[in-house]
Amino acid sequence: MDVYRLRKDFPLLAGSEDSEKPIYLDSASQTLRPRSVMEAMDEYYESFPACAGRSAHKLATEISIRCDEVRSKAANFLGAEDSSEISFLKNATEGLNTIIFGCGLERGDEVVTTDYEHNSVHVPLLRASETIGIRRRIVDSLPDGTFDLESFEEVMSRRVKLVAACLTSNVTGYTLPAKEVVDIAHSHGAAVVFDAAQTAPSRRVDARELDADFVVACAHKMLGPSGVGIMYARRELSERLDPRMLGGHGVAYVDRDSYELLPPPERFEAGLQNYAGIVGTGAAIDYLNAVGLEEVFGHELSLNRRLTRALRSIPGVDILEPADPNLRGGMLGFNLAGFIPHDVAVILDHSRGIMLRAGRLCCHSIFEARGIEGCARASFYLYNTTEEVEALAEAVEDMTAGL
Ligand SMILES: Cc1ncc(COP(=O)(O)O)c(C=O)c1O
Repeated sequence: MDVYRLRKDFPLLAGSEDSEKPIYLDSASQTLRPRSVMEAMDEYYESFPACAGRSAHKLATEISIRCDEVRSKAANFLGAEDSSEISFLKNATEGLNTIIFGCGLERGDEVVTTDYEHNSVHVPLLRASETIGIRRRIVDSLPDGTFDLESFEEVMSRRVKLVAACLTSNVTGYTLPAKEVVDIAHSHGAAVVFDAAQTAPSRRVDARELDADFVVACAHKMLGPSGVGIMYARRELSERLDPRMLGGHGVAYVDRDSYELLPPPERFEAGLQNYAGIVGTGAAIDYLNAVGLEEVFGHELSLNRRLTRALRSIPGVDILEPADPNLRGGMLGFNLAGFIPHDVAVILDHSRGIMLRAGRLCCHSIFEARGIEGCARASFYLYNTTEEVEALAEAVEDMTAGL
């Protein structure tokens, strides 16, 4: 993978003067987008700016065909058996809410989850315990930050109806043993939803191979536009999944006193959709397929190993577990003695143009579990260079030296 060639595809990184380019280490929040994604979206607005699946004219037909094509691409990307198992939503949060509130949980049902969920799983589960009366069973991580498969097995029983787990942590980058989790959950008759928002951008998530029931991702963390979530729901389950939103487009038939929903995926896509975003998502998937996810992941790991080595040698730097960078993909959360995480981010941005995220990263539970306030997080992607991670390490060293 030629990072320097790829960088030319990203307007923010393509200028001639290195000093003018941002050092963007916040891809776990949102990635930058290549020109092909923006061009695909422009093409929609310029050439076929119509509604899919409604009007019969040529522009509407064109966008309907394009959306179907992107659905097939997303189905291949996530290992769905059929493109009808893929719905386009507003973001990952909408997909996770749809599954948690729509999968038929009842009072007394147990849902097993982790102690490092993003709030888009954690908060809906809290709400579901208030409104439905589910019981949450949280599997605490091991001291080294990895998933405790043994405790998971112990907590599982026929009372558990759903396992809702973050596949890759947005704080540490750790990815849990997905296949083992699915096999254990299924042996107790529980369904599994994986929040793959941080996995799908650089690792193959094959729903069929994993035998996962639901998988959710979002386009804005994988080179695509903001405003597009991708929900995979296994066909047998998607037919029983209750949509969160109803209105135009999702219905087959309506009269004064009744309605009939369209089959999945349309029933989950009520109202006018983000067609430009869907088209842009197709271009993002094309781009990632052309580069190859294995290449992307290998590059992330090599940057992470390098940064970990450099930061470890700086006194006062505390890297969030797991310690092994090979378990942290494209992410590195850290704290710096004498600085609050927010100040780390602001100082790095103002002094060196290094952009990263700091705080609780919409994942309050992991910090509560570890007894820390928050962290600064560097996250890398296919366009980041070794020079950039070295610049971060140097800037952190200067901060500790009071420069
Ligand atoms: C692990 C994880 N899950 C869910 C989300 C929520 O994604 P979205 O903003 O698309 O709803 C994020 C976003 O940061 C995330 O990192």
